[in-house]
Amino acid sequence: MVKGLKGLILAGGHGTRLRPLTFTGNKHLLPIANKPMVFYGLEHLRNAGIKDIAVILGPLREGFAELVGNGSSFGVNLTYIEQPIPLGLAHAALISKDFMYGDPFIMYLGDNLLRDGVLPFKRKFEREKLDCVIGVSEAKDPTRFGVVELANGKVVSLVEKPKHPKSNLALVGVYVFGPKIFEAISKIKPSARNELEITEAIQQLINDGGKVGFEKVTGWWKDTGRPEDLLEANQLVLSGLQPQSYDLSLPPDAILTGNVVVGKGTKFSGKVRVLGPVIIGDDCVIGPEVYIGPYTSIGDKSVLDHAEIENSIVMSGVNLQSGKRVTDSLIGSSSVIKNADLSLPRGYKLIIGERSFAQI
Ligand code: DAU
Repeated sequence: MVKGLKGLILAGGHGTRLRPLTFTGNKHLLPIANKPMVFYGLEHLRNAGIKDIAVILGPLREGFAELVGNGSSFGVNLTYIEQPIPLGLAHAALISKDFMYGDPFIMYLGDNLLRDGVLPFKRKFEREKLDCVIGVSEAKDPTRFGVVELANGKVVSLVEKPKHPKSNLALVGVYVFGPKIFEAISKIKPSARNELEITEAIQQLINDGGKVGFEKVTGWWKDTGRPEDLLEANQLVLSGLQPQSYDLSLPPDAILTGNVVVGKGTKFSGKVRVLGPVIIGDDCVIGPEVYIGPYTSIGDKSVLDHAEIENSIVMSGVNLQSGKRVTDSLIGSSSVIKNADLSLPRGYKLIIGERSFAQI
């Protein structure tokens, strides 16, 4: 048994690829199936028996500490470490060195979701007394990831986002490290994108004779770098949704089919069709004439009236009266979407911030 295994969650960076959703907020707080993304990683570390966890935060930290706090609601102790500029994953690890105090740790990239959590990585690290365990998964487009080359069951090389990948095995955003990783990091230089790459640090560890093992991820894995990834992550989590087992008082013309979870205080009226998997938060008002289709999550306090939506993430406090069906959409908190046919002159009226997207 490894003594004092700690956790490190990376929740820094600018979230540039998820703008405008991340202009004012930390991307790791965006909801996947109505739960802030970072909660998934925190719960995985907690479920692996880890008590002491550091969270790396960049400049976008608003609301983070309020929501996640000191970790007591998760049964863990959280420490926040500031990384004012995102200088790379290995840099994030390096600034946590004092916190680790010589103990091994699991580093979890806060924008990654894994169905099966981190226990297999921890077990491999302990069983084989390694200096590092990496996670690998077959990827359709390995050029978007760190790519791992294996030979005779061993890790021989790792390259960050290669143009000509030597395999289709992508590096998953979960790593277990012993203290030797810090020496390896001290030997590498910033990459072309001016980051200290953890991929290069692990290659350095191998070059220095460190023992690096790998664990193939069996369940699904998702890196939520781009907006379409958020929708896919939402689908993956909702596909494992458990049916709700309490009595809902529904009006006679409301039909909920499949796995549908409804929060406290949510009210339905008139004709409503909900086809799961769907999650609806607390204190929403749904109806009349509303259809909510598969793979949709609706945040707390949202109002849907004469609306149709499917395969979408609706954040909290949204007012949706769409008329036409909305699909494959991400709708930020407190947005208002009205039916253009109900006011004169008819036409699209858009108040859209920088880097928004609309298909009308
Ligand atoms: O998702 C897996 C991939 O993650 C791996 O295959 C790659 O080898 C690895 O480099 C990483 O690539 P990305 O380009 O996706 O990393 P990204 O810049 O998106 O950062 C990953 C997470 O770490 C994200 O939640 C933001 C956070 N972060 C990132 C940097 C660069 C920090 O907290 N600090 C940083 O300095």
